Amino acid sequence: MRINKYIAVSGEASRRKADELVAGGRVKVNGLVLREAGYDVRECDVVEVDGRIIEPVTEKVYILLNKPLGYVTTSDDEFGRDTVLDLVADVDARLFPVGRLDYNTSGLLILTNDGDFAYKLTHPKHELPKTYRARVAGVLSDKKCGVLRRGVDIGGFVTSRAQVQVVRGYQRSTLVDITIHEGKNRQVRKMFAAVGNPVQELCRIAIGDVKLGHLAEGHYRKLTADEVRRLLAACSGAGQSGRRR
Ligand code: URA
Repeated sequence: MRINKYIAVSGEASRRKADELVAGGRVKVNGLVLREAGYDVRECDVVEVDGRIIEPVTEKVYILLNKPLGYVTTSDDEFGRDTVLDLVADVDARLFPVGRLDYNTSGLLILTNDGDFAYKLTHPKHELPKTYRARVAGVLSDKKCGVLRRGVDIGGFVTSRAQVQVVRGYQRSTLVDITIHEGKNRQVRKMFAAVGNPVQELCRIAIGDVKLGHLAEGHYRKLTADEVRRLLAACSGAGQSGRRR
């Protein structure tokens, strides 16, 4: 098994992160720093990451968390802020978040110890749809909804098709659901800012057809086997991607 996959199925990190660990000289095989990114791990090899021996995990854990505002999705934070891992501390597995949500975004976040699953869900080529409910400032006109649906320039990148559905209009704000197929940094905030309706509140309500539902903020549940299967199946769908300007 290739070293990046070995690290991923050990629950240590996603495959992409595993490549970074190797490039950063943090991986040893049989006591020697590994220099070969494509190394094939043999049965007899002892693999270490940061001095800790790792082995492929057998029981895979998939958690759906309703992330509250004010938590970071990294494993540790340089400013000492609370991390989402603090909310699942009683789960007996080395979990990591699948993708990220901003500090000021709440909602559906998946955590797992299955690096391969995380790799598939976050790979840009799979374009897994993610749905957000946003409160945006001002009135979001039909014309602006059309612009958002067709694609909008968010600074050197034109977003691909999106689904946009106004849920309710207020005098000074609009509640709107948006489904995107990419995961650029702060993409939803940038999209609404680009049409002049900055985001005031943002919550992710679905990934693929797996929904947040009525799970209370800060609470979590296990994904069902069927939800895991559906998410993986959704990863095999192809679509158009955004265009570079
Ligand atoms: N888009 C954003 O702007 N923020 C998030 O947290 C997720 C998507």
